[in-house]
Amino acid sequence: MSKQFDPQDKYFNRAKQEGYRARSAFKLEEIQERYKIIKPGDKVLDLGAAPGSFLQYIFKVVGEKGIAVGIDLQEIESFPDKNILTFKGDIYDEKLYKKIVQQIGMEEFDVITSDLAPKTSGVKFVDGGRSLDLSLQVLEIAKNYLKKDGGCVMKILPGFNEGELLSVVNKMFKTVKKFRPKAVRKSSGESYVICLDKL
Ligand SMILES: C[S@@+](CC[C@H](N)C(=O)[O-])C[C@H]1O[C@@H](n2cnc3c(N)ncnc32)[C@H](O)[C@@H]1O
Repeated sequence: MSKQFDPQDKYFNRAKQEGYRARSAFKLEEIQERYKIIKPGDKVLDLGAAPGSFLQYIFKVVGEKGIAVGIDLQEIESFPDKNILTFKGDIYDEKLYKKIVQQIGMEEFDVITSDLAPKTSGVKFVDGGRSLDLSLQVLEIAKNYLKKDGGCVMKILPGFNEGELLSVVNKMFKTVKKFRPKAVRKSSGESYVICLDKL
């Protein structure tokens, strides 16, 4: 059983009942309910996608006319829906994007989501620094593969100077918000940066 499942946690039963692979889906659900970032028919790239609950939720929103593409270092068990595509690989690997673009026949996404989490050391500033590196890479990917006016959702961990990230994000997007969904565990410092309308 995934270690994300905790029988004491109220999202545990909901995830099981609704067939989600992890409780993280409810974080994205809250973000979506508040910011309406994903639209039916959208093409969405999900970074750090294993085991796949964001992808499941994204597919629910985009529907049959949309596409949800997930990348993770770990194998993501495949889905029966042909519009959910999964790739095993590193988000730093440029060749991977070329392969994806070739396979799906399009160059830009409407939305990028990232629930990327680095291997944590327990040392706050080290983990925060790793999270910052991942977020900066998400923005590089957004520069190349997110369409104009597109949106991006990024998980961030505490422990680094957020100003560095926000200074990049603010130059790239018209609107930027920080949001901590209720579904984030109380013990976790994580939150999400919501970026709307790529310039
Ligand atoms: C919290 S999990 C994602 C959960 C997922 N959103 C879900 O709903 O099922 C974070 C993931 O980030 C992935 N990850 C971390 N660094 C990565 C990298 N450089 N490239 C690809 N995936 C990475 C990890 O392998 C891990 O599966």
